[in-house]
Amino acid sequence: MDPSEHILILDFGSQVTQLIARRVRESGVYCEVVPFHNGEAAIAKRSGLKGIILSGGPASVTSAETPRAPDAVFTSGLPVLGICYGQQSLVAQLGGTVESSDHQEFGRAMITVATDCPLFEGLWRETESHQVWMSHGDRVTALPDGFSVVATSEHAPFAAIADVERGYYGLQFHPEVVHTPDGAKLLERFVRGICGCRGEWTMARFRDVKIEEIRAQVGQHKVICGLSGGVDSAVAAVLIHEALGDQLTCVFVDHGLMRQGEAEDVVSLFRGHYNIPLVHVEAAELFLGKLDGVSDPERKRKIIGATFIDVFEAEAKKIGGADFLAQGTLYPDVIESVSFTGGPSVTIKSHHNVGGLPERMNMQLVEPLRELFKDEVRALGKELGLPDVFVGRHPFPGPGLAIRIPGAVTAEKCDILRKADAIYLDEIRKAGLYDAIWQAFAVLLPVRAVGVMGDGRTYDYVLALRAVTSTDGMTADFYPFDMQFLGRTATRIVNEVRGINRVTYDITSKPPGTIEWE
Ligand code: XMP
Repeated sequence: MDPSEHILILDFGSQVTQLIARRVRESGVYCEVVPFHNGEAAIAKRSGLKGIILSGGPASVTSAETPRAPDAVFTSGLPVLGICYGQQSLVAQLGGTVESSDHQEFGRAMITVATDCPLFEGLWRETESHQVWMSHGDRVTALPDGFSVVATSEHAPFAAIADVERGYYGLQFHPEVVHTPDGAKLLERFVRGICGCRGEWTMARFRDVKIEEIRAQVGQHKVICGLSGGVDSAVAAVLIHEALGDQLTCVFVDHGLMRQGEAEDVVSLFRGHYNIPLVHVEAAELFLGKLDGVSDPERKRKIIGATFIDVFEAEAKKIGGADFLAQGTLYPDVIESVSFTGGPSVTIKSHHNVGGLPERMNMQLVEPLRELFKDEVRALGKELGLPDVFVGRHPFPGPGLAIRIPGAVTAEKCDILRKADAIYLDEIRKAGLYDAIWQAFAVLLPVRAVGVMGDGRTYDYVLALRAVTSTDGMTADFYPFDMQFLGRTATRIVNEVRGINRVTYDITSKPPGTIEWE
């Protein structure tokens, strides 16, 4: 995308780089994330580029051979903001010094504003103290010419630095995370105040620009789109349908790993509400056959990803060939599979619609939501007229119940889990909690416990309930249900679902857990 004004974010591999993008877009300015080594080309080709942000990253500028911003960043004449590693790289490249520190600093810290500066205008004043989020081992110890210190913290005497004349700023802390309460405003100050962006970027514009991009990418070819039952693939399908009309065919693959009622809901939305051609494939036997005896989570994800592609390719042949496969891949799916931009971030799990795809796939991918977070997708869904009940649905992962059944997956276990999950969601809806929770689901553990029902002994599965609050799926907290709710739900599940005799509640946040169990 190349709107009339935008910001470039050079990624040094931080797990939270995309939060910078998100905050910038929240302030009404379009931006893109590009790996640091592609920065030069990105700067050369962009008209409308107003400023550059250098992200944090896991490397240390004190070691040899670590990432550096391309020279073009500093010869472009544009304002530059370096965050954490980005600040250290900026300092090292412009002639200052960075050293490893005895005091690593992780978590909340207080900084004191040393002097007023344009980045803080209207926000922070000299001598004030403010909370920020630090996460660094190295720190700046000598500034390049032209720079001065504008904020300090106990362990970082150069917590914020500025060369006002050149429009260069550096922050040792992370303004992009919510734990820096004024962080979003600081980023807004940078992009609007320092870089001079007007801030006219909206979801309506995103939709228009994406529609043009989809048309340019696909031309007259046919596209096949996999619907998972979740919001993302539905929004992607409706957007692509707006762009291409009947060049699009949607395929809903029932892999036997869906929740109760899921297939019916999707089919009626697409065939009834929209007039989008939809092929409904029953493939439970195929998927469960391939998963037979497989318990490793990454193998499960890869098998499901590969089998999806087999089914899509077979369906594509039936409609006379499709050259493109559309998916509702989101940014959090991507950042934890490989770095979004090809940059250096660590793999946590292969989300099936990203790392799980086989290399041999014959179709090209169309992924119009790849840069968006969940709540941005919901906003886009509303923009496209999707019904509120659908847009507000909790996320559901492509690999479905398979990653909610740790260990080997069987049809019998899927049935047990489906029933328990439906009761849990029913209780959540009845308690009026559905919209307050970001995602809730049940997990069938590969553990059996002894119980007593009536006068008999039982030896059945243990179920874990999970419910989290989150804004983007990148971090999450467990939902604090009251005990009566949990007691009521557990009783119903044990009474109504054969095969479960014990229920637990998962109170792990993300990190250190992930939302799904696999
Ligand atoms: P984790 O478990 O990584 O999940 O904390 C973050 C969010 O992503 C969803 N998720 C997936 N979505 N394909 C998807 O479309 C996948 O393979 C996948 N794995 C996890 C998860 O449900 C949560 O909302």
